[in-house]
Amino acid sequence: MAVEAGRDIAPAKGKLGVMLVGLGAVSTTFIAGVETVRRARGLPIGSLSQMGTIRLGKRTEKRSPKIKEFVPLADLKDLVFTAWDPIPDDAYTAAVKAGVLDRHEHLEPIKDFLQDIKPLPAAFDQYYVKRLQGTNVKRGKTKRELAEQLREDIRSFRKSAGVSRVVIVWCASTEVFITPGPAHQSLATFEKAMEQNDPAIAPSMLYAYAALMESVPFANGAPNLTVDVPALQHLAEERKIPIGGKDFKTGQTMMKTVLAPAFKARMLGLAGWYSTNILGNRDGEVLDDPESFKTKEESKLGVLEYILQPDQYPELYGNVFHKVRINYYPPRGDNKEGWDNIDIFGWLGYPMQIKVDFLCRDSILAAPIVLDLALFFDLAQRARLSGIQEWLSFYFKSPQTAPGLYPEHDLFIQQTKLKNTLRWLMGEEQITHLGIEYYEKA
Ligand SMILES: NC(=O)c1ccc[n+]([C@@H]2O[C@H](COP(=O)([O-])OP(=O)(O)OC[C@H]3O[C@@H](n4cnc5c(N)ncnc54)[C@H](O)[C@@H]3O)[C@@H](O)[C@H]2O)c1
Repeated sequence: MAVEAGRDIAPAKGKLGVMLVGLGAVSTTFIAGVETVRRARGLPIGSLSQMGTIRLGKRTEKRSPKIKEFVPLADLKDLVFTAWDPIPDDAYTAAVKAGVLDRHEHLEPIKDFLQDIKPLPAAFDQYYVKRLQGTNVKRGKTKRELAEQLREDIRSFRKSAGVSRVVIVWCASTEVFITPGPAHQSLATFEKAMEQNDPAIAPSMLYAYAALMESVPFANGAPNLTVDVPALQHLAEERKIPIGGKDFKTGQTMMKTVLAPAFKARMLGLAGWYSTNILGNRDGEVLDDPESFKTKEESKLGVLEYILQPDQYPELYGNVFHKVRINYYPPRGDNKEGWDNIDIFGWLGYPMQIKVDFLCRDSILAAPIVLDLALFFDLAQRARLSGIQEWLSFYFKSPQTAPGLYPEHDLFIQQTKLKNTLRWLMGEEQITHLGIEYYEKA
């Protein structure tokens, strides 16, 4: 098969600024983790970009470099961090409060480094996150003014940190449920809505707008609408900036997007899937508000519908009862427990049950995803890929797609898509897994 020329990718020269919206459990676990890895005191487990390999060519060629040696990613030593948060705690205090990483083993040794990261005042409005109160917030008469202040933050960070490139990842709280409306349709209506303080413009959209206006890629780790609206998608395409979301795919949903494709692959039926969670971190508290929960629920519910295709398989998946619950339970902190009860059926309709009890750590699963997204969005920008980065669906619960396309949720199809995109970028053959040549020759 002819090998493609590959893409002309600008080298990862200089420093990469990672601006995080939110300096809570996920962000501090990510920052502290990267610094710990840089000091050779821990491994970046869970990060495909750092630990994963990629097979190239035929199985007999035995070429499987590490992904980070195959594509020109920014080196961890070149990452510089900052964040916005309405809560004024520095990264050390925030990490201690989040209670994810062990204070003595992982936070004390890098205390000075973490204390230097102080959050910039946030574009925050309690209307969108009911359970939070913030004091470290920007003031402005209009939302447009707040967006301009965010743009100024990006410009001054570029200068003060001496970074050559910037990426932004939303790691802030889940906002209340918003559906796309007239304000989100074009740049003109969007800008007018910002000037008129239209409630349809959530704070997360101001960060996304500021990022795009400053030519900065934007990834959304929460289920908020944010950059998933036509106005900002067009802006991203026009300005040739990569965007993507929504909602990091970490614990329960990751398992769902592994198990559901297995049932479908074997043509096993599904009667019901009951998913419940207990968690006690601030994210759990925010999601205890019905309006924020609704945003999360939509994101968690969507996956089965798309994977199982009930319209194509009505006898198997035409009548699935799917329920998702999140219960705020403070004693567990960040150590979430996610239970799944799955009622499946097989040959002649005989019922069976599967139980999954995932005692996970939310931020331990999310931190490597933030790292990979920061590195791959920066790569996308340098490779001149713009607009929605569907090849990074692997990391999201509700992947954004081009209008008219349904999202791909199956984790292993997403992984294949990601790796094939890397091969394509570097001018290597796509891997189809056909492999007939090994047998026909014989
Ligand atoms: N950990 C996971 O496994 C996981 C998976 C998927 C999605 N997420 C999402 O990631 C986000 C972060 O999770 P977390 O556990 O770190 O939560 P967290 O509550 O510990 O941190 C979120 C931070 O965002 C800040 N914030 C809220 N609104 C803001 C605004 N407008 N601007 C700047 N900062 C703002 C809050 O003050 C808080 O400090 C949540 O939306 C969560 O739903 C997490």
